[in-house]
Amino acid sequence: MNAIETKNLTKVYKNFTAVNSLNLEVPDNTIFGMLGPNGAGKTTTIKMLTCLIQPTSGEATVGGYDIKNNPDEVRRLLGMVPQQVSLYKDLTVMENSQLCADYYGIDPNERDSRIEDLMELVDIKYAKDKLVSQLSGGQKQKASLVASLVHRPKILFLDEPTIGLDPTTKRTLWDLIRELNDNGHTIILCSHDMHEVDMLCDNVGIINTGNLVAYDTPQGLKDALLESNKKEISDTLSQISAESDVSTSTKEDVDNLSLRKMSFLLKSNDDDIINSLKHNSHVKSIEIAHNGRVNLRIDYFDDDAVNSVLDSVINSNGVIKSITTEEPSLEDVFIKSTSEVNEDDRV
Ligand SMILES: Nc1ncnc2c1ncn2[C@@H]1O[C@H](COP(=O)(O)OP(=O)(O)OP(=O)(O)O)[C@@H](O)[C@H]1O
Ligand SMILES: [Mg+2]
Repeated sequence: MNAIETKNLTKVYKNFTAVNSLNLEVPDNTIFGMLGPNGAGKTTTIKMLTCLIQPTSGEATVGGYDIKNNPDEVRRLLGMVPQQVSLYKDLTVMENSQLCADYYGIDPNERDSRIEDLMELVDIKYAKDKLVSQLSGGQKQKASLVASLVHRPKILFLDEPTIGLDPTTKRTLWDLIRELNDNGHTIILCSHDMHEVDMLCDNVGIINTGNLVAYDTPQGLKDALLESNKKEISDTLSQISAESDVSTSTKEDVDNLSLRKMSFLLKSNDDDIINSLKHNSHVKSIEIAHNGRVNLRIDYFDDDAVNSVLDSVINSNGVIKSITTEEPSLEDVFIKSTSEVNEDDRV
Protein backbone atom coordinates (compact mmCIF):
# COMPACT_ATOMS: atom_id res chain seq x y z
CA MET A 1 0.00 0.00 0.00
CA ASN A 2 1.04 3.59 -0.59
CA ALA A 3 1.29 6.04 2.31
CA ILE A 4 0.66 8.85 -0.14
CA GLU A 5 -0.97 8.93 -3.54
CA THR A 6 -1.74 12.07 -5.50
CA LYS A 7 -3.64 12.32 -8.75
CA ASN A 8 -3.36 15.54 -10.76
CA LEU A 9 -2.96 17.46 -7.50
CA THR A 10 -3.00 21.17 -8.33
CA LYS A 11 -2.81 24.42 -6.38
CA VAL A 12 -3.45 27.75 -8.08
CA TYR A 13 -2.94 30.97 -6.10
CA LYS A 14 -5.04 33.65 -7.89
CA ASN A 15 -3.70 32.98 -11.39
CA PHE A 16 -0.35 31.47 -10.41
CA THR A 17 0.00 27.68 -10.55
CA ALA A 18 2.23 26.63 -7.63
CA VAL A 19 1.61 22.87 -7.99
CA ASN A 20 0.70 21.60 -11.42
CA SER A 21 -1.10 18.24 -11.82
CA LEU A 22 1.23 16.37 -9.51
CA ASN A 23 1.09 12.56 -9.67
CA LEU A 24 3.10 11.01 -6.89
CA GLU A 25 3.22 7.72 -4.99
CA VAL A 26 5.13 7.22 -1.76
CA PRO A 27 5.14 3.55 -0.67
CA ASP A 28 4.39 2.75 2.96
CA ASN A 29 7.31 2.53 5.36
CA THR A 30 9.78 4.35 3.11
CA ILE A 31 11.71 7.61 3.37
CA PHE A 32 10.84 9.90 0.47
CA GLY A 33 12.98 12.92 -0.35
CA MET A 34 11.40 15.91 -2.03
CA LEU A 35 13.90 18.14 -3.81
CA GLY A 36 13.40 21.26 -5.88
CA PRO A 37 14.60 24.85 -6.19
CA ASN A 38 13.15 27.67 -4.09
CA GLY A 39 9.56 28.28 -5.10
CA ALA A 40 9.20 24.87 -6.80
CA GLY A 41 6.03 23.96 -4.88
CA LYS A 42 7.35 21.59 -2.19
CA THR A 43 5.87 23.37 0.84
CA THR A 44 2.60 23.96 -1.03
CA THR A 45 2.39 20.20 -1.75
CA ILE A 46 3.06 19.38 1.90
CA LYS A 47 0.46 21.92 3.04
CA MET A 48 -2.18 20.25 0.85
CA LEU A 49 -1.22 16.74 2.03
CA THR A 50 -1.38 17.81 5.67
CA CYS A 51 -4.79 19.49 5.14
CA LEU A 52 -3.53 23.00 5.93
CA ILE A 53 -4.73 24.29 2.56
CA GLN A 54 -7.25 22.93 0.06
CA PRO A 55 -6.13 21.84 -3.39
CA THR A 56 -7.62 23.76 -6.32
CA SER A 57 -8.18 20.48 -8.16
CA GLY A 58 -7.02 16.87 -8.20
CA GLU A 59 -7.03 14.25 -5.46
CA ALA A 60 -4.77 12.81 -2.81
CA THR A 61 -4.86 10.14 -0.14
CA VAL A 62 -2.69 10.02 2.95
CA GLY A 63 -2.56 6.67 4.77
CA GLY A 64 -5.49 5.62 2.58
CA TYR A 65 -7.70 8.57 3.64
CA ASP A 66 -8.87 11.20 1.17
CA ILE A 67 -7.55 14.65 2.09
CA LYS A 68 -10.79 16.40 1.07
CA ASN A 69 -13.34 13.95 2.51
CA ASN A 70 -11.49 12.69 5.61
CA PRO A 71 -9.21 15.53 6.79
CA ASP A 72 -9.62 14.62 10.49
CA GLU A 73 -8.43 11.04 9.93
CA VAL A 74 -5.50 12.36 7.87
CA ARG A 75 -4.52 14.83 10.63
CA ARG A 76 -4.54 12.06 13.27
CA LEU A 77 -2.10 9.96 11.24
CA LEU A 78 0.48 12.58 10.54
CA GLY A 79 3.11 14.68 12.18
CA MET A 80 4.51 17.82 10.64
CA VAL A 81 7.66 19.82 11.23
CA PRO A 82 6.91 22.96 9.20
CA GLN A 83 9.48 25.09 7.37
CA GLN A 84 8.47 28.07 9.55
CA VAL A 85 8.26 27.01 13.20
CA SER A 86 4.62 27.36 14.25
CA LEU A 87 4.70 27.06 18.03
CA TYR A 88 2.93 29.40 20.48
CA LYS A 89 5.55 32.03 21.26
CA ASP A 90 4.13 32.96 24.67
CA LEU A 91 4.09 29.33 25.91
CA THR A 92 7.12 27.37 27.08
CA VAL A 93 8.74 24.52 25.16
CA MET A 94 7.12 22.05 27.59
CA GLU A 95 3.67 23.66 27.36
CA ASN A 96 3.74 23.58 23.56
CA SER A 97 4.51 19.85 23.55
CA GLN A 98 1.86 19.17 26.20
CA LEU A 99 -0.71 20.98 24.08
CA CYS A 100 0.15 18.78 21.10
CA ALA A 101 0.07 15.61 23.20
CA ASP A 102 -3.36 16.55 24.60
CA TYR A 103 -4.69 17.28 21.11
CA TYR A 104 -3.73 13.75 20.09
CA GLY A 105 -5.15 12.24 23.28
CA ILE A 106 -1.88 10.87 24.69
CA ASP A 107 -2.33 9.14 28.07
CA PRO A 108 -1.67 11.88 30.73
CA ASN A 109 0.42 9.41 32.80
CA GLU A 110 2.73 8.85 29.88
CA ARG A 111 2.68 12.35 28.41
CA ASP A 112 5.43 14.22 30.29
CA SER A 113 7.91 11.33 30.32
CA ARG A 114 7.47 10.88 26.55
CA ILE A 115 8.08 14.59 26.02
CA GLU A 116 11.14 14.60 28.26
CA ASP A 117 12.62 11.56 26.47
CA LEU A 118 12.29 13.38 23.15
CA MET A 119 13.72 16.56 24.67
CA GLU A 120 16.75 14.63 25.86
CA LEU A 121 17.17 13.04 22.47
CA VAL A 122 17.40 16.38 20.63
CA ASP A 123 19.08 18.13 23.57
CA ILE A 124 16.55 20.83 24.45
CA LYS A 125 15.51 19.66 27.93
CA TYR A 126 17.66 22.35 29.53
CA ALA A 127 15.31 24.95 27.98
CA LYS A 128 12.01 23.22 28.66
CA ASP A 129 10.64 26.06 30.81
CA LYS A 130 11.75 28.86 28.48
CA LEU A 131 9.21 30.73 26.41
CA VAL A 132 9.46 29.93 22.70
CA SER A 133 9.89 33.68 22.03
CA GLN A 134 13.17 33.52 23.99
CA LEU A 135 14.72 30.65 22.02
CA SER A 136 17.44 30.76 19.36
CA GLY A 137 16.62 29.59 15.80
CA GLY A 138 18.07 26.10 16.32
CA GLN A 139 16.40 25.75 19.73
CA LYS A 140 13.02 26.60 18.16
CA GLN A 141 13.61 23.95 15.51
CA LYS A 142 14.34 21.39 18.24
CA ALA A 143 11.24 22.40 20.20
CA SER A 144 9.18 22.05 17.02
CA LEU A 145 10.56 18.53 16.48
CA VAL A 146 9.59 17.45 19.99
CA ALA A 147 6.04 18.78 19.61
CA SER A 148 5.65 17.05 16.23
CA LEU A 149 6.93 13.67 17.35
CA VAL A 150 5.15 13.33 20.68
CA HIS A 151 2.25 11.31 19.25
CA ARG A 152 4.58 9.05 17.23
CA PRO A 153 2.93 9.85 13.90
CA LYS A 154 2.56 7.07 11.32
CA ILE A 155 3.44 9.51 8.54
CA LEU A 156 5.89 12.30 9.28
CA PHE A 157 6.39 15.38 7.10
CA LEU A 158 9.66 17.22 7.65
CA ASP A 159 10.01 20.50 5.73
CA GLU A 160 13.73 21.36 5.82
CA PRO A 161 14.10 20.05 9.39
CA THR A 162 17.87 20.29 9.73
CA ILE A 163 18.28 23.94 8.67
CA GLY A 164 19.96 25.78 11.52
CA LEU A 165 20.75 22.64 13.52
CA ASP A 166 24.31 22.12 14.72
CA PRO A 167 26.17 19.09 13.25
CA THR A 168 25.66 16.92 16.36
CA THR A 169 21.90 17.51 16.52
CA LYS A 170 21.66 17.02 12.76
CA ARG A 171 23.16 13.54 13.13
CA THR A 172 20.85 12.75 16.05
CA LEU A 173 17.88 13.71 13.90
CA TRP A 174 19.12 11.53 11.01
CA ASP A 175 19.40 8.58 13.42
CA LEU A 176 15.91 9.33 14.71
CA ILE A 177 14.49 9.42 11.17
CA ARG A 178 16.08 6.03 10.43
CA GLU A 179 14.81 4.59 13.71
CA LEU A 180 11.25 5.80 13.05
CA ASN A 181 11.43 4.29 9.59
CA ASP A 182 12.71 0.95 10.99
CA ASN A 183 9.65 0.96 13.25
CA GLY A 184 7.26 1.26 10.31
CA HIS A 185 6.86 5.02 9.94
CA THR A 186 6.81 6.75 6.56
CA ILE A 187 8.85 9.95 6.28
CA ILE A 188 8.50 12.73 3.72
CA LEU A 189 11.58 14.90 3.83
CA CYS A 190 11.97 18.23 2.01
CA SER A 191 15.56 19.31 1.97
CA HIS A 192 18.16 21.29 0.05
CA ASP A 193 20.90 19.16 1.64
CA MET A 194 21.79 16.67 -1.09
CA HIS A 195 23.99 14.60 1.18
CA GLU A 196 21.13 14.25 3.67
CA VAL A 197 18.72 13.12 0.95
CA ASP A 198 21.22 10.76 -0.67
CA MET A 199 22.00 9.13 2.66
CA LEU A 200 18.51 8.80 4.09
CA CYS A 201 15.99 8.41 1.30
CA ASP A 202 14.70 5.29 -0.46
CA ASN A 203 13.18 7.37 -3.25
CA VAL A 204 13.63 10.94 -4.41
CA GLY A 205 11.27 13.19 -6.35
CA ILE A 206 12.54 16.37 -7.95
CA ILE A 207 9.92 19.10 -8.33
CA ASN A 208 10.43 22.06 -10.61
CA THR A 209 7.91 24.87 -11.22
CA GLY A 210 5.13 22.73 -9.75
CA ASN A 211 5.90 19.60 -11.81
CA LEU A 212 7.53 16.31 -10.92
CA VAL A 213 10.56 16.18 -13.24
CA ALA A 214 12.34 13.11 -11.85
CA TYR A 215 11.47 10.21 -9.53
CA ASP A 216 13.73 7.28 -8.69
CA THR A 217 16.07 5.92 -6.05
CA PRO A 218 19.07 8.19 -5.42
CA GLN A 219 21.32 5.66 -7.20
CA GLY A 220 18.82 5.29 -10.06
CA LEU A 221 18.90 9.06 -10.63
CA LYS A 222 22.70 9.08 -10.68
CA ASP A 223 22.85 6.11 -13.08
CA ALA A 224 20.39 7.88 -15.39
CA LEU A 225 22.59 10.97 -15.35
CA LEU A 226 25.62 8.86 -16.32
CA GLU A 227 23.68 7.36 -19.22
CA SER A 228 22.52 10.75 -20.48
CA ASN A 229 26.09 12.14 -20.13
CA LYS A 230 27.32 9.18 -22.14
CA LYS A 231 24.88 9.94 -24.94
CA GLU A 232 25.70 13.65 -24.92
CA ILE A 233 29.42 12.92 -25.09
CA SER A 234 29.14 10.47 -27.96
CA ASP A 235 26.83 12.88 -29.85
CA THR A 236 29.31 15.75 -29.34
CA LEU A 237 32.25 13.59 -30.38
CA SER A 238 30.59 12.54 -33.60
CA GLN A 239 29.61 16.16 -34.31
CA ILE A 240 33.22 17.28 -33.70
CA SER A 241 34.71 14.64 -35.96
CA ALA A 242 32.31 15.78 -38.70
CA GLU A 243 33.54 19.40 -38.40
CA SER A 244 37.07 19.90 -39.72
CA ASP A 245 37.78 23.33 -38.16
CA VAL A 246 37.41 22.19 -34.52
CA SER A 247 40.61 22.67 -32.55
CA THR A 248 42.45 19.70 -31.06
CA SER A 249 42.09 21.16 -27.58
CA THR A 250 38.27 21.13 -27.87
CA LYS A 251 38.41 17.47 -28.82
CA GLU A 252 40.66 16.77 -25.83
CA ASP A 253 38.22 18.57 -23.53
CA VAL A 254 35.36 16.39 -24.73
CA ASP A 255 37.54 13.26 -24.47
CA ASN A 256 38.29 14.18 -20.86
CA LEU A 257 34.56 14.32 -20.14
CA SER A 258 34.33 10.59 -20.71
CA LEU A 259 37.09 9.91 -18.18
CA ARG A 260 36.59 9.39 -14.48
CA LYS A 261 39.07 10.58 -11.89
CA MET A 262 40.54 8.02 -9.53
CA SER A 263 43.05 8.80 -6.88
CA PHE A 264 44.85 6.72 -4.26
CA LEU A 265 47.54 6.97 -1.66
CA LEU A 266 49.97 4.04 -1.46
CA LYS A 267 52.19 3.03 1.43
CA SER A 268 55.06 3.54 -1.00
CA ASN A 269 55.12 4.46 -4.70
CA ASP A 270 57.38 1.66 -6.01
CA ASP A 271 58.46 1.79 -9.66
CA ASP A 272 56.93 -1.67 -10.18
CA ILE A 273 53.49 -0.40 -9.22
CA ILE A 274 53.70 2.75 -11.33
CA ASN A 275 54.99 0.78 -14.36
CA SER A 276 52.21 -1.74 -13.97
CA LEU A 277 49.66 1.11 -13.93
CA LYS A 278 51.28 2.73 -16.99
CA HIS A 279 50.88 -0.54 -18.90
CA ASN A 280 47.25 -1.02 -17.85
CA SER A 281 45.08 -0.28 -20.89
CA HIS A 282 42.28 1.10 -18.67
CA VAL A 283 44.55 3.88 -17.39
CA LYS A 284 44.33 6.87 -19.74
CA SER A 285 46.66 9.16 -17.80
CA ILE A 286 48.72 9.01 -14.64
CA GLU A 287 50.22 11.73 -12.50
CA ILE A 288 51.96 11.58 -9.12
CA ALA A 289 51.11 14.61 -7.02
CA HIS A 290 53.68 16.19 -4.70
CA ASN A 291 51.75 14.86 -1.68
CA GLY A 292 52.36 11.34 -3.02
CA ARG A 293 48.81 10.70 -4.27
CA VAL A 294 48.57 8.79 -7.52
CA ASN A 295 45.97 10.50 -9.72
CA LEU A 296 44.59 8.54 -12.64
CA ARG A 297 42.04 9.04 -15.34
CA ILE A 298 40.10 5.94 -16.30
CA ASP A 299 37.20 5.32 -18.65
CA TYR A 300 33.97 6.62 -17.08
CA PHE A 301 31.76 4.00 -18.66
CA ASP A 302 33.91 0.87 -18.42
CA ASP A 303 32.61 -1.28 -15.55
CA ASP A 304 35.89 -3.25 -15.33
CA ALA A 305 38.22 -0.25 -15.11
CA VAL A 306 38.29 0.19 -11.31
CA ASN A 307 38.84 -3.53 -10.68
CA SER A 308 41.58 -3.70 -13.25
CA VAL A 309 43.45 -0.75 -11.70
CA LEU A 310 43.17 -2.32 -8.23
CA ASP A 311 44.50 -5.62 -9.63
CA SER A 312 47.53 -3.81 -11.07
CA VAL A 313 48.35 -2.28 -7.69
CA ILE A 314 47.72 -5.39 -5.60
CA ASN A 315 49.56 -7.75 -7.99
CA SER A 316 52.62 -5.47 -7.70
CA ASN A 317 52.42 -5.81 -3.90
CA GLY A 318 51.15 -2.24 -3.46
CA VAL A 319 49.41 -1.33 -0.21
CA ILE A 320 46.54 1.15 -0.69
CA LYS A 321 46.05 3.50 2.27
CA SER A 322 43.12 5.46 0.83
CA ILE A 323 41.19 5.61 -2.41
CA THR A 324 38.62 7.90 -4.06
CA THR A 325 36.78 7.93 -7.36
CA GLU A 326 34.74 10.88 -8.55
CA GLU A 327 31.14 9.87 -9.23
CA PRO A 328 28.24 12.08 -10.21
CA SER A 329 26.38 13.37 -7.16
CA LEU A 330 22.70 13.91 -6.48
CA GLU A 331 23.55 17.61 -6.77
CA ASP A 332 24.57 17.04 -10.41
CA VAL A 333 21.21 15.32 -11.01
CA PHE A 334 19.39 18.19 -9.32
CA ILE A 335 21.13 20.85 -11.40
CA LYS A 336 20.53 18.95 -14.63
CA SER A 337 16.85 18.19 -13.86
CA THR A 338 16.00 21.73 -12.86
CA SER A 339 18.09 23.66 -15.39
CA GLU A 340 15.48 23.71 -18.14
CA VAL A 341 13.15 26.21 -16.49
CA ASN A 342 10.68 28.03 -18.61
CA GLU A 343 11.15 31.61 -17.40
CA ASP A 344 7.45 32.33 -18.05
CA ASP A 345 6.60 29.73 -15.37
CA ARG A 346 8.54 31.58 -12.70
CA VAL A 347 6.64 34.87 -12.54
N1 LIG B 1 -0.10 32.00 -0.05
C1 LIG B 1 0.45 32.17 -1.26
N2 LIG B 1 -0.07 33.06 -2.15
C2 LIG B 1 0.46 33.22 -3.38
N3 LIG B 1 1.53 32.53 -3.83
C3 LIG B 1 2.09 31.63 -3.00
C4 LIG B 1 1.59 31.40 -1.68
N4 LIG B 1 2.36 30.43 -1.08
C5 LIG B 1 3.29 30.11 -2.00
N5 LIG B 1 3.13 30.80 -3.14
C6 LIG B 1 3.96 30.67 -4.36
O1 LIG B 1 3.94 29.33 -4.77
C7 LIG B 1 5.23 28.93 -5.25
C8 LIG B 1 5.66 27.67 -4.50
O2 LIG B 1 5.96 28.01 -3.14
P1 LIG B 1 6.44 26.92 -2.08
O3 LIG B 1 6.48 27.57 -0.75
O4 LIG B 1 5.61 25.70 -2.25
O5 LIG B 1 7.93 26.62 -2.62
P2 LIG B 1 9.03 25.62 -2.04
O6 LIG B 1 9.31 24.62 -3.11
O7 LIG B 1 8.64 25.13 -0.72
O8 LIG B 1 10.30 26.59 -1.95
P3 LIG B 1 11.49 26.71 -0.81
O9 LIG B 1 12.54 25.73 -1.22
O10 LIG B 1 11.95 28.12 -0.98
O11 LIG B 1 10.89 26.45 0.52
C9 LIG B 1 6.15 30.13 -5.06
O12 LIG B 1 6.31 30.78 -6.31
C10 LIG B 1 5.41 31.03 -4.08
O13 LIG B 1 5.66 32.39 -4.35
MG1 LIG C 1 9.40 25.35 1.17
